[in-house]
Amino acid sequence: MILQGVLDSFDVKCWLFFIFVFLLVVDIVRSRPPPKFPSGPWSLPFLGNVFTNLDFKTMDKMAADYGPVFSLRRGSERIVFISGYKMVKEALINQLHSFADRPITPLFYVTFKGIGIALSNGDMWKNQRKFANTHLRNFGEGKKGLEHHIQLESSFLCEAFKEEQGRGFNPHFMLNNAVGNVISSVVFGHRFEYSDENFQKLLRLDNEAVILAGSAMAQLYDVFPNIVKHLPGPHQTINSNYRQITDFLQQEIDKHKEDWDPENPRDYIDTYLTEINKRKEDPTAGFNTETLVICTLDLFEAGMETAATTLRWALVYMMNYPEIQKKVQAEIDKVIGQSRQPNMSDRTNMPYTDAVIHEIQRIGNVVPLGFPKMASKDATLGGYFIPKGTTIHTNLSSVLFDKDEWETPYTFNPEHFLDSDGQFRRRDAFMPFSAGKRVCLGENLARMELFLYFTTLLQRFSLSPVPGAMPTLEGVLGFTYSPEDFLVRALPR
Ligand code: HEM
Ligand SMILES: *[C@@H]1O[C@H](CO)[C@@H](O)[C@H](O)[C@H]1NC(C)=O
Ligand SMILES: *[C@@H]1O[C@H](CO)[C@@H](O)[C@H](O)[C@H]1NC(C)=O
Repeated sequence: MILQGVLDSFDVKCWLFFIFVFLLVVDIVRSRPPPKFPSGPWSLPFLGNVFTNLDFKTMDKMAADYGPVFSLRRGSERIVFISGYKMVKEALINQLHSFADRPITPLFYVTFKGIGIALSNGDMWKNQRKFANTHLRNFGEGKKGLEHHIQLESSFLCEAFKEEQGRGFNPHFMLNNAVGNVISSVVFGHRFEYSDENFQKLLRLDNEAVILAGSAMAQLYDVFPNIVKHLPGPHQTINSNYRQITDFLQQEIDKHKEDWDPENPRDYIDTYLTEINKRKEDPTAGFNTETLVICTLDLFEAGMETAATTLRWALVYMMNYPEIQKKVQAEIDKVIGQSRQPNMSDRTNMPYTDAVIHEIQRIGNVVPLGFPKMASKDATLGGYFIPKGTTIHTNLSSVLFDKDEWETPYTFNPEHFLDSDGQFRRRDAFMPFSAGKRVCLGENLARMELFLYFTTLLQRFSLSPVPGAMPTLEGVLGFTYSPEDFLVRALPR
């Protein structure tokens, strides 16, 4: 009776208040970090730091306030950020097995399903990565095969530049197409004309998905997937774009199945189909058509925007630094001349050009936060405790701009990669491809592309801006860091 009276005297507002306080306590208890967990700024209950801008200035202050290992809260999850060459090296190289897994991110899980190469773990990851690696290594006759394809493609790219007849044009999708064609050759066994509307559409869908992946809504999806998935917004566009891209890949795979000849494999898909047959008895290895679709998607996703964006930065820097462009051209003329195409054995004779390409990758900073990773076991880093399963980001830009490693971190300066004799000098803090067990699978391929496209273009053309429209060196920050769209004039040399 007495209880009933007390309950009656509570009005609705009171109840709501009680429920709120109760949830708050649950939230505080549930999200309390373990002892010695990396510290971070004060965060909102329930939401955490979802409203914290991940822009360079805000985060610089965090690293300054909280040191090279700090945490941010996103919903009830705590994410650890690792910055600076020393600490990133400690995490990825000295503790090779501590941070080798990928976290499950709900938004990408819709498409990638935790299988394939880039977003998988365990045996699945090991088997699929090894298989793709072997294929890349054996493609054609050793490295020659890939080198030859890239050389051919650079000729097509030069033709497309020439057709613009010295007028200003936006090279964005030509470069994406050229880079996409190298992966197409590896995976599908053929390239696409720059006028192919289907492939152009695919490139645009992909570019859009990568840009939107950096949006606030996409990040909110990973915090509250069950709510956000029912709302309209950019995350829906991402999913729909990936659906169209996987449909396209599925069609290519179906075509391959029709005229598949195990005796004469043409490409990655053919070789994979053989592997599916060979490993029928071993389902845990994960070789099946569903995984094949995701592996091919991984190769395109990881290999296209990254390499194409680097090439766009290359053009932007060459236009902004005409005297460096001229020095590269002088080296090309001296070592290669004008009568033959550049090849990979030229690189060792071209330390200046090699240094310029490295410096473009360093300052271009194309994947600023790397791909997210997850502690594969309980780990201790910089005196902090990071429990198994914690999502971590190794801040690659903080390595590429580390003031303890680079003489002039914020200045475009090829001397970073040259010794006093003008010979090429390796730098440990050069980590645009990350490092350790999850290091970029396509690093060699990407380096070949960058060298051959860059030297072939500069051998044939002088690149300059449209008068009065010098492209800015200030990029756009999303999942990638990319230059704003710009116009270039390519005049035959
Ligand atoms: C300039 C071009 C490129 C850059 C800057 C780049 C950068 C990266 C970075 C930072 C990672 C994350 C590594 C980590 O988690 O620690 C990565 C992973 C990866 N990259 Fe690249 N990449 C480039 C080109 C390519 C190309 C051409 C391919 C295609 C063959 C490729 C395939 C991959 C794959 C499959 C992964 C996932 C590896 C795994 O999870 O085990 N990348 N890349
Ligand atoms: C990563 O490092 C760069 C360079 O030090 C810094 O500007 C940026 O704010 C950092 N980002 C994060 C998320 O820590
Ligand atoms: C590159 O070109 C030079 C000059 O034509 C040639 O001697 C060399 O064998 C070539 N290297 C490759 C790997 O094709």
